[in-house]
Amino acid sequence: MNIILLGPPGAGKGTQAKNISARYNLVHISTGDILRCAVVNKTALGVRAKSYMEAGELVPDDVVVDLVRERVADLDCKSGFLLDGFPRTVAQAVELDAILKANETEVDFVLNIEVSQDEIVKRLTSRRVCGDCNRTYNLLFEPPRDEDKCNECGTALYRRDDDSEETILNRMKVYYQQTAPLIAYYQRSGKLKNIDGGHAIDEVFADIEEAVCACQN
Ligand code: AP5
Ligand code: MG
Ligand code: ZN
Repeated sequence: MNIILLGPPGAGKGTQAKNISARYNLVHISTGDILRCAVVNKTALGVRAKSYMEAGELVPDDVVVDLVRERVADLDCKSGFLLDGFPRTVAQAVELDAILKANETEVDFVLNIEVSQDEIVKRLTSRRVCGDCNRTYNLLFEPPRDEDKCNECGTALYRRDDDSEETILNRMKVYYQQTAPLIAYYQRSGKLKNIDGGHAIDEVFADIEEAVCACQN
């Protein structure tokens, strides 16, 4: 089973991706996580992506398409994967169709997580991330036990560079201009399932399980 997670910044894609990949045994592929890791390690990919990410702009299509092409061809993806944060433009979606065809597979369905703009700003300004294991917390909705340390590994939590209010608003703008058209793209193929992401994390996951179950029958 191959799934795409669609939704604006802060919709809860990463949070739900962890639940979904564990529940259905899927490889979680987050282009944002791969790019952030490349930036930290100062690889050629990271050097190219850094300024776009800091500004809340999209990294050029060819860069992300190449990294997804390589990742989905890996052996572990043969039994199913979950794309989080890709595709982000119609051009990326068209390329993805071609990549999957070349790998003799396809997208089974697309979960579109919907959340209001006010809620997004609230969630992202209060998000904190573990510097080691990448676990995500929220000071308002899912706080760590110790104010600034990860529950799992004790590493210090940090605030993502693109989680300032100004950059969040630009990411939202970029989302509406470049990514939201994908909703119609996948609606046309009959693969889109809308999920109300405005509830508590467990409730959203229960709705996702229900949608997946309905798709499998
Ligand atoms: P990316 O990392 O993909 O960021 P994003 O799309 O902006 O989404 P986020 O990761 O910010 O939010 P999320 O939906 O994962 O929410 P989360 O679960 O963390 O991309 C970053 C950048 O990389 C882009 O701007 C671009 O530059 C580049 N990039 C990446 N992919 C690209 C591509 N394909 N093409 C071009 N460029 C690309 O949750 C947010 C917070 O809310 C957390 O604190 C969480 O604890 C909390 N929360 C989650 N769910 C709930 C809930 N139900 N109730 C209350 N709180 C909740
Ligand atoms: Mg994310
Ligand atoms: Zn950790």
